[in-house]
Amino acid sequence: MHIVVPPTWSLPDSSVAPEAIYRGRRDFLKLLGFGVAAAAIAPEDLLASAAEIPARLNPAHRLDGLRLTKENAILGYNNYIEFSLVKEGPRIEANKGFRARPWSVDITGLVEKPLSLDVDELVRTMGGIEQRNYRHRCVETWSMVIPWDGFPLSRLIQLVQPKPEARFVKFTSFLDTDAAPNQNNPLIPWPYTEGLTIAEAANELTFLATGIYGKPLANQNGAPLRLVVPWKYGFKGIKAITEIAFTDGQPATLWNQVAPAEYGFYANVNPTVDHPRWSQAREFVLGGGIFDGKKPTLMFNGYASEVAGLYRGLDLRKNY
Ligand code: MTE
Repeated sequence: MHIVVPPTWSLPDSSVAPEAIYRGRRDFLKLLGFGVAAAAIAPEDLLASAAEIPARLNPAHRLDGLRLTKENAILGYNNYIEFSLVKEGPRIEANKGFRARPWSVDITGLVEKPLSLDVDELVRTMGGIEQRNYRHRCVETWSMVIPWDGFPLSRLIQLVQPKPEARFVKFTSFLDTDAAPNQNNPLIPWPYTEGLTIAEAANELTFLATGIYGKPLANQNGAPLRLVVPWKYGFKGIKAITEIAFTDGQPATLWNQVAPAEYGFYANVNPTVDHPRWSQAREFVLGGGIFDGKKPTLMFNGYASEVAGLYRGLDLRKNY
């Protein structure tokens, strides 16, 4: 068994996220009947050297001037509530009973050509994968820069041909109470679900990831297939996808059902719209240390030129 023994020089994650935030979210999850324990992460361990940047990088998504977060931090500081509520938990718990292969993905709903196929067959059907470096901003205020492997969701949308009535896309994660013990908690509407408008789903940035740092996706990061929407808070990036359904109505999502006032459907990164319990104006860049790692959060997480047009005329305070 892999036991994490935090070194004395490491920081608790209460130092990485402001204490009020981290306590607030944990208290909230405790209310749902989850127990939580202490967790630790070493800030020195979080930034990668340029030598680790993989080949096959799409040059349109290099993020020049930003340093990739160190691989060990991306693999070891996770949110995956099916498995654990502490950041170091999913790396251990998602590698016990959970199996990412074989894995079938269904593309269903309002499409001309529904699909049901093995995830590796899906990747072949998509014509292979590319790498992209994306900013990753969690609603809890920590951020990373992550090199993903995968393919744009728009390519899959072209293949299945949505019908004109399709206005939203719903994503559903796995359900396996043996592999993921927290799914026995009846207060949570399992499985984890998320949704996008069809325009958001078809945006060039929206990505289905199959790998990280040039390697197959680790279980704790959402193997074998996870969504990446870099201008939205990380909770939109649903892991271990089993179904992608095209719908005419806005789909319910796990966080919208559990805490509708706190986690909106749109979830665009927005420094001017605070979470009810904390400010979103600044973020903690993991690896930057307690003080110098703090920087202003960018509108749409720095992707405004690519996505602001999707929300023209929409009140982002109401549709947060
Ligand atoms: N997907 C599932 N199925 N379960 C989860 O708990 N957590 C979300 C998202 N996808 C989550 C999920 C949240 S809150 C974040 S910030 C990201 O995954 C974290 O992804 P990472 O652990 O790979 O950084």
